[in-house]
Amino acid sequence: MTSTTEHPRTSPGTLTDEQVARYRRDGFVHLPGVVSRPDAARWAKAALAARERLADHHSGAAFTQLLQLWRHDEELRELTLHPGLAAIATRLAGVPLRLWHDQLLIKEPHNGAATEFHQDQPYWPHTGSRHALSAWVALVDVPAERGCMTFIPGSQRLTGLRAQDLTDRDDLMNLAPELRFRPRVTVPLRAGDCTFHDSRLAHTATPNHTDDPRVAHVVIYVDADTRLAPEPAHPVTEPLGLAPGDRLPDAHFPRLGPAPR
Ligand code: SIN
Ligand code: NI
Repeated sequence: MTSTTEHPRTSPGTLTDEQVARYRRDGFVHLPGVVSRPDAARWAKAALAARERLADHHSGAAFTQLLQLWRHDEELRELTLHPGLAAIATRLAGVPLRLWHDQLLIKEPHNGAATEFHQDQPYWPHTGSRHALSAWVALVDVPAERGCMTFIPGSQRLTGLRAQDLTDRDDLMNLAPELRFRPRVTVPLRAGDCTFHDSRLAHTATPNHTDDPRVAHVVIYVDADTRLAPEPAHPVTEPLGLAPGDRLPDAHFPRLGPAPR
C-alpha cells in the first residue's frame, strides 16, 4: 500500500461544475481541504479556548454549541468570513448570500449521543429565501467514530415540516416516513475538509466514541434578500428588535461572497 502526505485542496477556482451539480442533486457535497491542515489546527485551538471563555448557547449530550464566534473571537472570525468558503457557497447556492450565523459544535469525548436526524431550515425565521446552506468545517479529523455527518441524499426537496427534535431518533422519520428506507451517506472528514449541506437536507451526526473532542465550525449562509419571518424566535434575531418582513441588516448579517455567475 502506498501512502501520500498530499491531501487534495478545494478553492473556488478548483470547484467543478460536476461538484455543483452533485450538490444541487443530492443536497450536499464533500469538499476536501477547503482550509489547510495547519489552519484547521490553529482554529481548533481557538475553538477549544473559546469554549472555556464564552458562554454556551446550548450544552447537552449531543454537543456544546457556541454561537456568533465571528463577533467574539478574532481568529474564528477569519474562518467565518473566509472569502473562499463564501465564494464556494455562492456558487453552490446560485444566489447572493449573507451570513445567517456561525456556530461551533463540539462533541465531547465519549459523549454517548448522536445529533438525531433533522432539517435545519425549520429552526430559522426566514421568509422569501431562495436558498440557505451550511458549511460544516472539520477542525480536527472526524472519522465516523468521532461524530461525522450522515445525509439522506435528495431529502432537501421535503418542505413545510415543523422543527424536529434533535434528541429524538424517530421524530423526523415519524413526520416523513418515506425517509426511513432511503439510502444514507456517511461522510468522514479530515481536518480542513468540509461538507456543504442544503438547509432542508435530512442529516444526523454520530456520537463521539473517541478520547478527543470533535470540533466543527459551521458557517450558515442565507439568500441575501431573505426577510424576517414572524417565527420561530431565534437567538440571533431576538435581541435586534426587528419586525416581521424586515430585511436582515448588513451590520449583523454581513453580505459574503461575490455576486453569483
Ligand atoms: C452536529 O455536528 O452534531 C450537527 C450539525 C448539524 O446539525 O448541522
Ligand atoms: Ni443541522
